[in-house]
Amino acid sequence: MKALLVGATLLVVLGHAQAIVGYNYPDVLGKSLLFYEAQRSGRLPSTNRIPWRGNSALGDAGSNGEDLTGGWYDAGDQMKYGFPMAFSTVVLTWGLLRYQSVYVAAGQYNYALDGIKWPLDYFIKCHTSKYEFYGQVGNTNSDHSYWGRPEDMTMSRPAYKITAAAPGSDLAALTASALAAGYLAFQNVNSTYAAILLQHARDLYDFATTYQGNYVQAIPDAGTGGYGGWGYNDEIAWAAVWLYKATGQQSYLTAATTTYYDSNTPGFGVGSMHAGYKLLLYELTGKSNTQYSNEVFWYLSYWIGGGFPYTPNGLLYASDWGSLRYAANQAFIALVGAELGINVNAFRSFGKNQINYALGDGGRSYVVGFGNNPPVYSHHRAASCPWPPATCDWSTYTNPSPNPHVIVGALAGGPGIADNFTDSRQNYRQNEVATDYNACFTSAVAALQYLKQTNQY
Ligand SMILES: *[C@@H]1O[C@H](CO)[C@@H](O)[C@H](O)[C@H]1NC(C)=O
Ligand SMILES: *[C@@H]1O[C@H](CO)[C@@H](O)[C@H](O)[C@H]1NC(C)=O
Repeated sequence: MKALLVGATLLVVLGHAQAIVGYNYPDVLGKSLLFYEAQRSGRLPSTNRIPWRGNSALGDAGSNGEDLTGGWYDAGDQMKYGFPMAFSTVVLTWGLLRYQSVYVAAGQYNYALDGIKWPLDYFIKCHTSKYEFYGQVGNTNSDHSYWGRPEDMTMSRPAYKITAAAPGSDLAALTASALAAGYLAFQNVNSTYAAILLQHARDLYDFATTYQGNYVQAIPDAGTGGYGGWGYNDEIAWAAVWLYKATGQQSYLTAATTTYYDSNTPGFGVGSMHAGYKLLLYELTGKSNTQYSNEVFWYLSYWIGGGFPYTPNGLLYASDWGSLRYAANQAFIALVGAELGINVNAFRSFGKNQINYALGDGGRSYVVGFGNNPPVYSHHRAASCPWPPATCDWSTYTNPSPNPHVIVGALAGGPGIADNFTDSRQNYRQNEVATDYNACFTSAVAALQYLKQTNQY
């Protein structure tokens, strides 16, 4: 009885400590970076930390044989979609720039730089001339009819590009924003590399504005994949703000505040950068223009204040496909907005609640390899495949065993409206993992750790 009581006391003490200490955000940050490492395509460096991943897609090439190896596989599949890749890269870099001290304190700064350099190097390869950019490698249908290791792929992987005759302003501009943000991240690390990034950013921005169009018209297969067709002025404005931040050149600021400015503010995510450029404009113009902050305030207040339902355990529920991603995207915007003084308490607690939901407050962890009862059947081909030479095919897909490899740090799509979640490999709406799902999530986790570090949590 005594031992039991001691045990109970200990539990109470531990419970109390958990309440004070909360989730280990630095641990989540490190794990999320590991997820991006597991998504790497191409020839892996000797520093690769994912033992079950090897070289893959070494034949990825442009129509004139240009080397297009590298980049990230998009999600549980092995497509290289440039548009969400650019989104993830710029959002991760935005978080790294804002919360560098968090990454440094967590021992993750060099991993984070390495992490963003992987897609940045790929974007440079894809930019084969000023007005030519490869926005995709792999065909959606042939990729999606395959279940197996990326290292074993044999299907043809066509490359698709935008050109002056078949432009894609959304793709070119979003990639320009990632490269301009990359310039800022690398300017004090390797100025030669940073200068290369900035030149590509400028040229892609010129491409986006000189030859205007929606990239899905040039690359319809990206639409098959579900990424595109949402207009391009927001990506141009967003790229312009990043280029202004990188260069101080007034013409970029003018483009963002006038030519490409849109007073509507849809939810933030792949294809919708409105809230992002408004926050950056608000900050860069010294918080003098409240139009920018008001438009973010209105959209976010609508999203979190009745525009969408919440699950019983508190998740903002915008879609049954990847519910956590929409919540994490708005959480990150809310946390940055709060830092800039916009509706501080409400936005901060919204951001905290949504991220903590994913980490365990929702009843379980939705981050693979982290916390209580995380998913073990993620819809992810590479993680589902046993070590070679064992076969990996569609029978692996329906195999009732958990994934033999843990896709550490990946955020699952998320639960249903009733906090209900089926941890099954076939459940791609709830249990796929994706580079864009993890992007705002990672930066929001860094934002929360920053609040702790500065005693504002
Ligand atoms: C800096 O970047 C350039 C261009 O990518 C590269 O050639 C060089 O090796 C880098 N320097 C260091 C010290 O990493
Ligand atoms: C979750 O619960 C809701 C409401 O009961 C239901 O409509 C939905 O189909 C469930 N989703 C899953 C994936 O079980």
